[in-house]
Amino acid sequence: MPVVLGIETSCDETGIGIVRDRVLLADEVASSVAEHARFGGVVPEVASRAHLEAMVPTVDRALATAGITLGDLDAIAVTAGPGLAGALLVGVAAAKAYSLALDLPLYGVNHLAAHVAVDVLEHGPLPEPAIALLVSGGHSSLLLVEDVTKTMVPLGQTIDDAAGEAFDKVARLLGLGFPGGPVVDRAARNGDPAAIAFPRALLADGYDVSFSGLKTAVARWVERQEGEIPVNDVCASFQEAVVDVLTRKALRACTDTGVGHLLIGGGVAANSRLRELAQQRCDAAGVVLRVPRPGLCTDNGAMVAALGDRLVAAGIAPSPLDLPADSSMPVELVCL
Ligand code: KG4
Ligand code: ZN
Repeated sequence: MPVVLGIETSCDETGIGIVRDRVLLADEVASSVAEHARFGGVVPEVASRAHLEAMVPTVDRALATAGITLGDLDAIAVTAGPGLAGALLVGVAAAKAYSLALDLPLYGVNHLAAHVAVDVLEHGPLPEPAIALLVSGGHSSLLLVEDVTKTMVPLGQTIDDAAGEAFDKVARLLGLGFPGGPVVDRAARNGDPAAIAFPRALLADGYDVSFSGLKTAVARWVERQEGEIPVNDVCASFQEAVVDVLTRKALRACTDTGVGHLLIGGGVAANSRLRELAQQRCDAAGVVLRVPRPGLCTDNGAMVAALGDRLVAAGIAPSPLDLPADSSMPVELVCL
């Protein structure tokens, strides 16, 4: 069975994964998130430099964890896009170097398809077709997955901020630190989700989402308060607005397309309320929900290796060695 090394550097995580026939052998992540904290968001140049420093040590760690050497690898997969151009470039250059030096096939893959494929490591073969909701600091996409090794059909996306970006911005305006998702999630557990009626943009139309107005509504509401801000209630009400819209649209996509499986991925899929509400609404609609464990939802190399493993198994041709890092790689394109 072929052993696939996956390299992920599209944002601030240097992720290296090793997969053999849907079995995860190693999943090592070096994050530069702490270096971005004081800026309140990811600084692309800082992320690129951190990838450069972390690349070789993280690959070595992954090999050690898997108990193998470079000579045991059969293919290399790397995130070719979408993502931060400079950050992607580090991963793609490293992947080409390993591929050339070891004479191994190289697969330049789509980050979003990798977020979908990772679920096979935990829950077995993907039910296809499936609807995928991918929500992170960089993306908010609703996709129809017919075959993750071939193509994904975009149904909707954010027209402004990504869902995770909204969490990060709201956390920042409340002075809760970065990244905002986990802190808001925790604060919300002690708050009332019905305390403040924040807007749910585009709820009735289509599959696109918008979170910029919601973020502004939270800012205006906070500004208007005299005295202490009820942080827990603000977090709970904001979070409820986000997950209400996301789950409603995802379920509507399932109903409209007649697809009985929903898969959720991306950093925001770690959100406890999103997981809970998605489960409730899927149960009510008779839809089977699949969400990988939180560590596989945030960016990692295992997801890239998982997709690479599926591409090899499906007999898909490798990418040319001159493949580009494509910061705006279209979602329809699974592999370059
Ligand atoms: O997938 P990811 O690690 O990287 C990107 O591709 O962006 O996602 C990071 C995003 C951040 O915006 C972070 O605030 C958000 O995921 N996030 C969460 C939670 N954990 C992480 N958002 C809401 N609730 C959480 N528990
Ligand atoms: Zn991601």
